[in-house]
Amino acid sequence: MAHNPETSLRPIVIFDTTLRDGEQSPGASMNLAEKMEVAEALVELGVDVIEAGFPIASPGDFEAVRDIARNVRGSTICGLARCRQEDIDRAWEALRHAERARIHVFLATSPIHRDHKLKMSKDEVIENVVACVQRAKNYCGDIEYSPEDATRTEPDFLCQVIEAAIAAGATTVNIPDTVGYATPAHMAEIVRDVRNRVPNIDRAVLSIHCHDDLGMAVANSLAAVETGAGQVECTINGLGERAGNCSLEEIVMALRTRHDHYRAATGIHTRRLVPTSRLVSNITGLQVQRNKAIVGQNAFAHEAGIHQDGMLKERTTYEIMQPEDVGFSTSDLVLGKHSGRAALADRAKAMGYSLGREQVDILFDQFKLLADRKKEIYDADIAALIEQQIHAVSEKWTLDSYKVLCGTGQVPEVTLRLRRGDEKSTVSMACGDGPIDAIFLAIAQVTGIPVVCKDFNVHSVTVGNDAQGEVLVQVEHNGQVYRGRGVSTDSVEASAKAFLNAINRVAALTNGMGR
Ligand code: KIV
Ligand code: ZN
Repeated sequence: MAHNPETSLRPIVIFDTTLRDGEQSPGASMNLAEKMEVAEALVELGVDVIEAGFPIASPGDFEAVRDIARNVRGSTICGLARCRQEDIDRAWEALRHAERARIHVFLATSPIHRDHKLKMSKDEVIENVVACVQRAKNYCGDIEYSPEDATRTEPDFLCQVIEAAIAAGATTVNIPDTVGYATPAHMAEIVRDVRNRVPNIDRAVLSIHCHDDLGMAVANSLAAVETGAGQVECTINGLGERAGNCSLEEIVMALRTRHDHYRAATGIHTRRLVPTSRLVSNITGLQVQRNKAIVGQNAFAHEAGIHQDGMLKERTTYEIMQPEDVGFSTSDLVLGKHSGRAALADRAKAMGYSLGREQVDILFDQFKLLADRKKEIYDADIAALIEQQIHAVSEKWTLDSYKVLCGTGQVPEVTLRLRRGDEKSTVSMACGDGPIDAIFLAIAQVTGIPVVCKDFNVHSVTVGNDAQGEVLVQVEHNGQVYRGRGVSTDSVEASAKAFLNAINRVAALTNGMGR
């Protein structure tokens, strides 16, 4: 089914909250530079509104919203605030240099939240919402109000609060399914009810914000769009609190592929979906499951013979979207030892990476080394090398060589040599629970940087016995979490590189402490 862009489609605002709700995913925290990089990628993707953070939550959040507001152009930049004066003032302080700013205030409305968390009556909730929307309105014209836990709020009261918020100046009113409790039919009923019963609803954009606790965030968001919602709040890779939020790539492609049904369209440049998904996954260290819709590595892989046969005869027999539409490259043409620099640069470009000459030179050197160890080099291999380069920190230490002797019931014996500038340091020790643990302990010994390994993840970049292993680690140092990444056809070496990458990040961010 070819995509048929029609002008009569209703425009849907895409509000991305990867940097706020997404960052609330355990293990997804990002530093300032990483947040800037994601914000720039979101602009390139064509996102209408970027929720850059919750400025009062921490100095780091404030700085991120402020720097994004100052420097990122092309999307509205939004900051979250509780219904409190100090939150709203702080949000504005962070947002005021934005090309277009939005303040997003929230106050819960459900009886559970009113009685147990807020200890407020219905009247007090309305009074607070009105006062806060008015305060925010003094700063900026674009105000969003969210009745937190809207889907467990009495319908009459929900309509009353929304009406009051719009009367006070809210230009977008959101319906958060905070705990992922709604079903598609229930969500459609709420949206219909709000549209029919809130008299001033035509003065605001009606938005939807779904969590995925029951695996229905995308379905619920689509039900809301079908009944008239004009904005969808979502995140890259569906990151977010607990089970996550509505996935941006899924909602966008559902609306695009089934525009015949939804009669709605977004302004997303869908070919940027895969590169943006990869970027967020690489930055957060949270991998995308292989069979994830739209951006998973297997999303367009046809394994069954009957499907492959059908695809060869006519693509649309088993394909409702084309891989290139979401940013997978058109062919998985294999590169190898004899491929040249131009072919590699071409392939990187087709995959959505814009690399400078120097970056291509480094990539080509790494590619040649890999080609000596691996016969066929796939797109995923190239992506892994590029990401490694993009996210490289200034490497204080690099791995020169390692040797481990280990076996069942034996304490591993490791010899490790690290390079630091022209200096080489070697350590030999018997330690650890296995070869990887032994190498980590040896690295900590040479560098003098003590860390605790919090997460260790290894997966193969492609298929085959000679596939590269990609290792992602998270380590803790003085209460801060640092990520590291390493790729190699030897998974022990990949682990050593990942651990060293994390240690180098600690050194870079703690002014080169350690030896
Ligand atoms: O899930 C939620 O209720 C939220 C609000 C702050 C919009 O994230
Ligand atoms: Zn949320």
